[in-house]
Amino acid sequence: MLTAQLTKLMEASFLACGYDPTYGQVVTSARQDLCQFQCNGAMSAAKAYKKAPFIISDEVINHLKSTEHFENMFSLAETVKPGFINLSLSDQYLADYIESISEDSRVGVEKATDPEKIVIDYGGPNVAKPLHVGHLRPAIIGESIKRLFKFLGHEVIGDVHLGDWGLQMGMIIVEVNRLYPDLPYFDPEYEGPYPTEPPFNFSDLEEIYPIASNRCKEDPDYNEKAKKATFDLQNGRPGYIALWKHFVDLSVKDILTIYNRLDVHFDLWYGESDSNAYVPKIINTLKSKGALYESDGAMVVDVTRPEDKKEIPPIIIYKSDGSILYGTTDLATIEQRVEDFDPDYILYVVDSRQANHFIQVFRCASDHGIAPSKTSLEHIGFGTMNGKDGRPFKTRDGGILKLADFIDSIEANAKEKINDKEGVDIETTARIVGLATLKYADLSNYRMKDYVFDLDKFSSFEGKTGPYILYTYVRINNIMNKLREELFQPSTIVTPSSEVERQLMLKIDNLEIALTLAAKDRAPNIICEYVYDLATLANGFYHAHHIINEKDPIKRGSWMKLLQITQKCLLLCLDLLGIQVPEKM
Ligand code: ARG
Repeated sequence: MLTAQLTKLMEASFLACGYDPTYGQVVTSARQDLCQFQCNGAMSAAKAYKKAPFIISDEVINHLKSTEHFENMFSLAETVKPGFINLSLSDQYLADYIESISEDSRVGVEKATDPEKIVIDYGGPNVAKPLHVGHLRPAIIGESIKRLFKFLGHEVIGDVHLGDWGLQMGMIIVEVNRLYPDLPYFDPEYEGPYPTEPPFNFSDLEEIYPIASNRCKEDPDYNEKAKKATFDLQNGRPGYIALWKHFVDLSVKDILTIYNRLDVHFDLWYGESDSNAYVPKIINTLKSKGALYESDGAMVVDVTRPEDKKEIPPIIIYKSDGSILYGTTDLATIEQRVEDFDPDYILYVVDSRQANHFIQVFRCASDHGIAPSKTSLEHIGFGTMNGKDGRPFKTRDGGILKLADFIDSIEANAKEKINDKEGVDIETTARIVGLATLKYADLSNYRMKDYVFDLDKFSSFEGKTGPYILYTYVRINNIMNKLREELFQPSTIVTPSSEVERQLMLKIDNLEIALTLAAKDRAPNIICEYVYDLATLANGFYHAHHIINEKDPIKRGSWMKLLQITQKCLLLCLDLLGIQVPEKM
């Protein structure tokens, strides 16, 4: 990375002039029209050393100029009042640097020297309820963050954390009991075996949940039954467990199909139910620490802090009837993850509206030793995807929009826009372009922001959109195909012939900075921003130089090679966003 190389040099200069070397930090310049890099260390050093910043920056630059490789390396090294340092590299140095990373599959991005073990909890679908548009963001953002940390060399475990253990399970059991009263699942005397096939299919199940949920709201007796059934299920009643397994099997099949369509993949398919075995242990821990107390008939743990500005209510561990809650399964899951993986981080990619829930869970877990101090627990929240009316995205008649239907509509839109060209498989291309539309639209917004899903805008081939980036990729592909033979000629990157080519080279070097920042802020929008800038420079470069018609084979070879690296860089970023590419479109 060039900024790292320059930082080293500047640090040495600061040190040689008698200053703390850490003032030598070099960053990419925000004003590329003035200089490529900047060092503002003299400004802060001035305060510490009680000198005018200009005197320090002059000393440092004069020292730099006296060093051995200065002439070869720099085209500009000047101080600007009151004490800024502007730097630009010589074209030769830049070209040699790009040449040096040209064969690297990671395009110069180094792996973490100190890899961390990270569990990412994302997706969070619920059994027996269809995935709806609300499940899109956790899947897309979580997948991107997972890919990013993996690429940076960390050990990452993505867990889908199925919602398979809450009250909705009891509700469905009660409703199925009503519909099929004679099945053996409900007979307490029956000792098995239970049917291997369920008496209903997934679409029946999807209909059962809303009916059960409505009945619970309207009928207190029914609601009590649902609670009781949930409690019995959680305590292992065999008939209920057998029935519940059908719910899980049918749902997981459906959920998998949709995640596969989204190219979202998990390492673990655990659910809330898998934490059940750890519940007694956390309850014992909380008891032994004297943290559990009774409040309104439930056993709770206080998690307030003196500095709290809003009220954080105690976390409920179990109710008087013994049933456990969402917070309990999350605590037990932390216990399980710590035992299984001893992770450095557990990241939860979950809607920001659950912020209070995570404050309660994290505080309870760290205060009482369920999470050891080495394990950081972090809620990576996100805002909602809204319709044009500014409210959460719905179907036309205001109903909940199923995720599968939403993906269908995006793919159909893409299909209309794809030209019937030779060598283009319309179905496959529409799927890829549709997915790129969807994912780029979502990821390019800073995750904490709500945003309006505007399909016309997001599916355009111009602007900050997935199709624009894919189009750039395909365009580079077309040029490469035309010059296939040339590609196999050994070529070397030579000095840039234009400012846009120079900027393209500098942008390629910027990849590592963009990815590091995206990881630090858990913010894939930084990758989107980067990939858009790269694509725009690539298009500008292609317009400025007639690569195919260029007569000078050295130039042509160098340009081809630069395009190849650009394409590698694009591909890498798109992969981190979870976006695939078509070879043609
Ligand atoms: N299933 C939950 C929901 O639909 C999301 C789960 C998020 N993950 C977690 N560990 N709580 O709201």
